[in-house]
Amino acid sequence: MQPGTTQQRFTLIDAQVDSHPATFAQEVKTGLTSSPKSLPCRYLYDKEGSKLFEEICQLPEYYPTRAETQILRDRAAEIASQFSEAIALVELGSGSAVKTRILMEALLRRHGKLRYVPVDVSRTILEESSRILLQDYPSLEIIAIAGEYHHGFPHLKAQSDRRKLILWLGGTLGNMERPEAVRFLRVLRDTMSPGDLLLIGVDLRKDRTVLEKAYDDSQGVTSRFNRNILARINRELNGNFDLDTFRYSVIYNEKAGRVEMCLVSEQAQQVSIEKLGMTVSFEAEEAIYTENSYKYSLPEIQALVSDAGLRVAHQWLDDGSRFSSNLLAPSS
Ligand code: AVI
Repeated sequence: MQPGTTQQRFTLIDAQVDSHPATFAQEVKTGLTSSPKSLPCRYLYDKEGSKLFEEICQLPEYYPTRAETQILRDRAAEIASQFSEAIALVELGSGSAVKTRILMEALLRRHGKLRYVPVDVSRTILEESSRILLQDYPSLEIIAIAGEYHHGFPHLKAQSDRRKLILWLGGTLGNMERPEAVRFLRVLRDTMSPGDLLLIGVDLRKDRTVLEKAYDDSQGVTSRFNRNILARINRELNGNFDLDTFRYSVIYNEKAGRVEMCLVSEQAQQVSIEKLGMTVSFEAEEAIYTENSYKYSLPEIQALVSDAGLRVAHQWLDDGSRFSSNLLAPSS
């Protein structure tokens, strides 16, 4: 490819098949009328929540980002060497961040050119991060897919003129229930052609103290991140949650291998949510579950991967054996 202008090297595909503005409202209603009460963790990431999550990634207690970055720095050249010709680097989520750049630079060094295919719900984030990447890397071409992952997947299948490396970084798989993670990987596997590879970050089971500190940091950023979902209900649905009456709480459920995060009402109270036409009653010490973060042992990763029709081609751990990066290939 001749280096072109940043515009010539950028394509945006709109895969927003059904944008239901009512979904947040509906899911809040369902979650707050369930027992126990819960809210889907994907709603933690509005503009404010995404900013707070960026802060979490810099916290001294939150090791996954640094651990995964170390693995990628150590292994980027080896990962790039799996491919003899220029590839399409697909990423679930859109990474303008350090980790994606490490791989991009290794692939550009090896092949001279690269097509980057980020999939993200936010068109704005895709456009902003692409603009910067295209300026920084003149041999990069970007085909950005705006939409939920499952709407983006048919467009990934279309990327069959070259081999693909799909990135799913950050350990986000851990925010899915275990059976859901298998189902998701299976669907992802079905977008892969022979020769394609999938690189996923998976956080590992470990000592309770390390995990509970990682998710309940001393600066209270993770607490603000979680409580922002109540602020979001106030902002978007005219709720009247008093955030100061909800305490953030974290426990590591070792048997289930998951960190459980919730917001606990410190008093009996009623909260009205005008746009939903509802009033929610809380007993004192009643919880709203906001997020689970599952941790895997190495045998659990093997089982997950093979249940999804994949096999581990390479597996790397960081120096502290806290986090794993897994390079997967279709098993059949
Ligand atoms: C996005 N995800 C992988 C994070 C995690 O570690 O489960 C979300 C998070 N929640 C609180 N801290 C980080």
